[in-house]
Amino acid sequence: MLEKIELIREELGAYEAATTEGLEAYRMKYISRKSVINALFDDFKHVPNDQKKQFGQTLNQLKQEAQAKFDELIASLETASDQSDTAPVDLTLPNIANELGSLHPLTVTYNRIVEIFERLGFSVKDGPEVEDDFHNFTALNFPENHPAREMQDTFFIEKNPDILLRTHTSNVQIRLMEHGKPPFRSIMPGRVYRNEAISARAHCFFHQVEGLYVDRNVGFKDLKQTLLHFSRELFGKDTQIRLRPSYFPFTEPSAEIDISCFICKGKGCKVCKGTGWVEIAGAGMVDPNVLSTCGIDPEEYTGYAFGMGIERIAMLKYQVDDLRLFSENDVRFLRQFKGAF
Ligand code: DAH
Repeated sequence: MLEKIELIREELGAYEAATTEGLEAYRMKYISRKSVINALFDDFKHVPNDQKKQFGQTLNQLKQEAQAKFDELIASLETASDQSDTAPVDLTLPNIANELGSLHPLTVTYNRIVEIFERLGFSVKDGPEVEDDFHNFTALNFPENHPAREMQDTFFIEKNPDILLRTHTSNVQIRLMEHGKPPFRSIMPGRVYRNEAISARAHCFFHQVEGLYVDRNVGFKDLKQTLLHFSRELFGKDTQIRLRPSYFPFTEPSAEIDISCFICKGKGCKVCKGTGWVEIAGAGMVDPNVLSTCGIDPEEYTGYAFGMGIERIAMLKYQVDDLRLFSENDVRFLRQFKGAF
């Protein structure tokens, strides 16, 4: 038995580990639970009683030596790898290309929209995504039990009082007006949520930019001119706009804004479904009820508002035909926007 110990001791002395694999092999053989040394402890019971003491001491000593050698091997492996870090560098080797990332197409579109409106004197305002019924519906003139509420399929977080995920960015209009005094000239970008089945054309979350301008003597012509300017900046200077009568509870009169198709220049193509026009926004004059709910005198002040979907604009501009691509994080899609800002 003592011979076995002696043999292992010699092996330990001669062991060298130049790699982490070698180190691991050492650990398995001499340190781990299944090591040859632990196996000797199992043999302990066969040792005659009068030799147990000496055997035990020698074995314990061997165990300590094995551990000390292990520490030594670790230390020398670390110094070796430190030294290889300082090995001379070949400066003539070609550079490792630094791959540039790209902005998300929605960020690119958002930046463009903000930039255009900021130049017109609009500030950018933010509002909550978790909202109460008052700011998302009631203050925007959605009557209780009116079908207008069903225009927007809502995710409720709590019922009575109702707390919900905002269905549009129009809630920020109210948050802005209830605490301030006119004039207001802001755009309000952000994420909105609707309880929709996900498809190429609909998603349960998307982004909008809301616009609001309230002051003395603001008229429909101001709305029209602002949206015409915006459309030309974004889609090209030949762009025409068309307003179609529509209905929103918070604006009167209300309109849907179309732009002439910038792909086919109005001749009719797949993007405009042959009509020559594509819808980009909803808009209108702020309903007097909305102003008075926010403590603004509708006799003194008037205003316009508009709302547009950022995904919708990005889909048109970059001819993306599936809304889901914006939230799937497929790098093959995202890489195509390299260089856009
Ligand atoms: N909130 C509307 C929607 O989500 C969009 C909208 C339409 C906003 C007309 C407005 C507006 O401010 O005047 O569909």
